[in-house]
Amino acid sequence: MKRKKDPGLIYLNELKMNWHRTYKAGKNYLISRIGSEKVSELEFWTEKRDGNNTVDEEVNFYNFKNQSLSMSLAISEVFDSDYIRKICNWISDNKELFGHTILDIGCDCGVLTCFIAKYFPEAEVIGIDRSKNAIKCAKELAGRFGLKNVSFIQTELTSFNGSFDTILYARVTQENITEKGISCYNTFFDISELYKIQVEMILGQVGSLLDKQGTLISFEMIDLNPLYYAIIRSLSENNCAILNSEEIIYKQFEGTVPLRCAAFSKDIFDDIKELSHIRQEMDLMDKNQLLVPYLSSVPELLARITFNEMLDEKITEGAPQYFDWVANYMLDDTANELIEGYFVYTDVQPKPLLYSLWTNKNDKTAVIYFGVPNDEARNDHFTEWSNNDISYKNSLIEMIHKLVKNYIIEGHVVKITKAVYEDNHLLEKDLPLQTIMKEDLESDRWNPLQSASDIAKYLKN
Ligand SMILES: C[S@@+](CC[C@H](N)C(=O)[O-])C[C@H]1O[C@@H](n2cnc3c(N)ncnc32)[C@H](O)[C@@H]1O
Repeated sequence: MKRKKDPGLIYLNELKMNWHRTYKAGKNYLISRIGSEKVSELEFWTEKRDGNNTVDEEVNFYNFKNQSLSMSLAISEVFDSDYIRKICNWISDNKELFGHTILDIGCDCGVLTCFIAKYFPEAEVIGIDRSKNAIKCAKELAGRFGLKNVSFIQTELTSFNGSFDTILYARVTQENITEKGISCYNTFFDISELYKIQVEMILGQVGSLLDKQGTLISFEMIDLNPLYYAIIRSLSENNCAILNSEEIIYKQFEGTVPLRCAAFSKDIFDDIKELSHIRQEMDLMDKNQLLVPYLSSVPELLARITFNEMLDEKITEGAPQYFDWVANYMLDDTANELIEGYFVYTDVQPKPLLYSLWTNKNDKTAVIYFGVPNDEARNDHFTEWSNNDISYKNSLIEMIHKLVKNYIIEGHVVKITKAVYEDNHLLEKDLPLQTIMKEDLESDRWNPLQSASDIAKYLKN
């Protein structure tokens, strides 16, 4: 369905913001606006922000971004123009959720806050942020629009008091949690539990600023699923009920970012069951970032941990790794030719384990794209081979054997199908390659993967 009105796009035009299709194009544009030195500094900051930053580092980053309004808007334009457009459209589609007093927590340079103040001229809007420069820029932006119904305050969320009909809480949680103690061997629940403790502290504060009849509007990226799950758990356990929930996708360069737009009410306790739907939905979601499944029986879990541990130690140590949608587009960007690929099915998994090995477009190394299933889904991963030593391939073969063996020992039937690459998609060949039984393994009859020396030749050519 085509939308008739696009207030988000009108607003982008007012801000003179465009959509940048590739990072390269965005970067060139930024260089022309703020100079290459600042762009290098921005890239340095972006790399450094890894989920374990101190508050001071976070504040420094936003003070850097907001050195001037034009710099802050240029950076938001390059990374977030489609986000801004989609959020503004969501706000206009959900007007009824906005009351008279509106607080925007973590307002940055005030782009969303000013849209709200313009869109609801009768409302009283306040934006708060802990970055001094962000608040300075936000005030300047409001002045540019001649807005009289908005004010901005520099404050840490935890030191702010008040009571509001509506709170906008957009992409702030992630900056208030640390990833200390989290490893890829934690299960989904372990991680969400670790996040939950931190999320509860910040949400407790957010909730205390909400009027009894008030509405909390949250926009969170949901590719960090355990974090979002932690948010949902915290809200449900704190008696916030869901009023509205929608997944929207915004574009960022060649990729897309899934975002959950949700509104929570403090007063509708009976609707709490709605939240459990989201929890269930998340339980079944196919976008978890984690290597390990979270609802598996112990042997399966062990088998997969073995797989992941071996991958980590032998193959991917020190190499960049990408997950899910990022893995998909990194594969597009880097992989050249499929050397070999298999889907490994078991009768306990609705989804297969995927293993695929590719030549690298850019050099003579290999690229692995693999997916480890959890109970309902497959978590896709991409990594470049960390070095040129293809003998590690033997470890990979070993580990796949081990995984398959573990399944078979547990009494499961394993079926392997071959992967082919056609029309830019990794597909399964129709015919199953073979179904493996215990005897096959014992007699060493099963060996569908090419040997390391075969592959080394392949890569050198
Ligand atoms: C990712 S930006 C999001 C900006 C805007 N809400 C959006 O969605 O485009 C996060 C902003 O929240 C601010 N922030 C994060 N944690 C905060 C806290 N505890 N108190 C005040 N501001 C905070 C940061 O300084 C930053 O400007």
